[in-house]
Amino acid sequence: LPESRLYQSNDKSPLQIFVRAKKKINDIYGEIEEYVHETTTFINALHAEAEIVDKAERELFESYVYKVAAIREVLQRDHMKVAFFGRTSNGKSSVINAMLREKILPSGIGHTTNCFCQVEGSNGGEAYLMTEGSEEKLNVVNIKQLANALCQEKLCESSLVRIFWPRERCSLLRDDVVFVDSPGVDVSANLDDWIDNHCLNADVFVLVLNAESTMTRAEKQFFHTVSQKLSKPNIFILNNRWDASANEPECQESELAKVKSQHTERCIDFLTKELKVSNEKEAAERVFFVSARETLQARIEEAKGNPPHMGAIAEGFQIRYFEFQDFERKFEECISQSAVKTKFQQHSSRGKSVSGDMKSMLDNIYERITIFRNLKQDQKNLLTERIQGTETQMMQVTREMKMKIHNMVEEVEEKVSKALNE
Ligand code: GTP
Ligand code: MG
Repeated sequence: LPESRLYQSNDKSPLQIFVRAKKKINDIYGEIEEYVHETTTFINALHAEAEIVDKAERELFESYVYKVAAIREVLQRDHMKVAFFGRTSNGKSSVINAMLREKILPSGIGHTTNCFCQVEGSNGGEAYLMTEGSEEKLNVVNIKQLANALCQEKLCESSLVRIFWPRERCSLLRDDVVFVDSPGVDVSANLDDWIDNHCLNADVFVLVLNAESTMTRAEKQFFHTVSQKLSKPNIFILNNRWDASANEPECQESELAKVKSQHTERCIDFLTKELKVSNEKEAAERVFFVSARETLQARIEEAKGNPPHMGAIAEGFQIRYFEFQDFERKFEECISQSAVKTKFQQHSSRGKSVSGDMKSMLDNIYERITIFRNLKQDQKNLLTERIQGTETQMMQVTREMKMKIHNMVEEVEEKVSKALNE
């Protein structure tokens, strides 16, 4: 198997950090839910029997049931989110397709992305779309139909279309990665709305540049705003269409290397000096030179059982293909670690505080129960003492009576025998 296939089919993917953490926290919350239910039933019974707990306490316990259920629901839906931005036609949709290993999103001439498109995994092998504000599932039979549906829908550029694609078709979807594709940053005036509506919960941003030109003001401005609204966003930069540079006639290898190092320097400066989102070392690990179109073609060939280089567009395919895989690996490490922190850290401290609060309330109730039991015991002891006193008295009386009767009988007997003798 080619390395990429091997990597796909085993579970050593860094995404497993998130997958395992999600399973673990969901299991723990399942236990917390059970515990909260049991405790609430117990507390209600206590109230009915002895009124040891008051109404406010019972209500507080019930509020934990709702709280825990709400957290569980959020946890089950949690995923890792990556959003792609860049100037129009730089290849955003193509990069997503290459990562999904299939041409899912429409790309190219006549298929400009005109609203936000979110691709996420669906269960049960179903493929469908949902537009914003509607619960209707529009079935998608094939990709052509999906492209047409996206063109026909009259959508505002900052609205969201959700595309559900069978999980089992791609390991990234299976592992809960959600992709967000966007219209070109150069065609919109509503960048602030975009960020507020689609970016605040993204774990990773990918800036897709065209390696044939330099970063534009619109692209820079967009990420300046993102980094003002979010503290230290994770940003990857893809210099896409790198195959085109290799295809340039008269392009010497040394010249290519020079262009590459110039681009790299600019990208690193942008991340470190302008946005100040990472240090030099981190930034160097976030800049890549790839060809999305070629990677997708190679993967389609691989799926047919052919060698990946059959999808090559230009010389130097292998290096570009490895660089794309390298990007994916670093991206997976980054997104899973970031998502675990942002999605689960808060919930795990909440879980701790709920169970801590419940424990101290139960300790408190237990103390009251102990006092109550001691009180009952004292009452019981007092009663026993009294009963014992009465018993002794009774015994004494009985003994005296017995003596009296005995004496009387003897007296009568004496009198009777005396009378008989007489
Ligand atoms: P918008 O949705 O219009 O903003 O564009 P986009 O950024 O999604 O670009 P898209 O993926 O639609 O790609 C635009 C065109 O560039 C398509 O015809 C792609 O096939 C082509 N393209 C994308 N990536 C590459 C690449 O790496 N190399 C080459 N040669 N062509 C590419
Ligand atoms: Mg597009």
